[in-house]
Amino acid sequence: MESFVFNCLLEGLPQRFLHFFSTNPSELDKLKDDDFGLYELIAPYYKTRNLVALYSRASSFSFKKESIPYLHQETNIKKLFIEMMQTYECTELINTDFQQGQFVPFGHICKLLNPIPGRETYVLKRPAHFWMYEDILSRVKVDSLLEIGIFYGGSTHAWRLRLPDVKLYSLDIHEPLQDSKILERCQSLFVKGSAVNISDIKKVCTNSPFDIVIDDASHLVAHQIFTFLQFIVEKACRKIYIIEDVNLVDRGQLSFMNFFQSLIHYQSTLNANVFIEHLQKFVTDDTREIFAQIANNMESIKSIDECKMVFYGDSLCIHM
Ligand SMILES: C[S@@+](CC[C@H](N)C(=O)[O-])C[C@H]1O[C@@H](n2cnc3c(N)ncnc32)[C@H](O)[C@@H]1O
Repeated sequence: MESFVFNCLLEGLPQRFLHFFSTNPSELDKLKDDDFGLYELIAPYYKTRNLVALYSRASSFSFKKESIPYLHQETNIKKLFIEMMQTYECTELINTDFQQGQFVPFGHICKLLNPIPGRETYVLKRPAHFWMYEDILSRVKVDSLLEIGIFYGGSTHAWRLRLPDVKLYSLDIHEPLQDSKILERCQSLFVKGSAVNISDIKKVCTNSPFDIVIDDASHLVAHQIFTFLQFIVEKACRKIYIIEDVNLVDRGQLSFMNFFQSLIHYQSTLNANVFIEHLQKFVTDDTREIFAQIANNMESIKSIDECKMVFYGDSLCIHM
């Protein structure tokens, strides 16, 4: 275990042991018993996620010989950890002051939370997303936001810093990977469930309507379409519905653009039968229930008649 922690430090990926210990808490207790010094070195990082402080402590720490993997026993570890600390020491970002009433741009926050591009990424957002969200936030007043698909919980963390006063909600089929307390700290109400399961959607929608809904879940075309339509059925999105990364296509599946064309066609003709016929082509086993419900009652998605759609890079932004 000591070598595992050491390797994570060495590779600049301490988030791995955060994840490991949050899913295996007894191992953390074991480390406390076996190597209290090492435990004390990493413990503050759980609360602060401050990589600079972690590597600063690591650079002055005396590692037991048995904690150091054989290959690194000759390495100048102190020097290496000082270099890591310097790499993470992105002064301008780390010193960002989250003062009340002043907002820090979303991209700036994501960079703060993901100090080294290309390493393990805590918030899975790219520059195209930063620009899209800042553009939307400059136009729309947001009091509530639901994100579907949270992975590490990093984007929830970023939303909380960017929008300190909004009501945050999260839906995912898994608990947040890596850090089980992240949603509690970010005061985000979490529902564990699937974005294509009607009863799970209804569960999260007891708190709706949300001003913004972001679908950053499986990225499967059928899921993106039917989750969106189910949110329309539930009248759960008040202002903007965003589908991130619509370019990803499963082998043999129609692309999201085919759906987009069908929707445009439907908006111009209001021919529900043709739209249902098109929709049917996208149905998969796990989206059949949502499809059947809509096919039996097109009135339930009447509000898509007039919604306005705009692409930001490969994300679709739908104005209700
Ligand atoms: C791309 S990650 C989310 C990244 C996060 N929003 C960020 O920006 O850091 C995708 C997440 O979607 C979740 N997911 C996949 N299929 C899902 C489904 N059917 N319903 C809900 N969540 C799903 C996965 O568990 C994973 O946590």
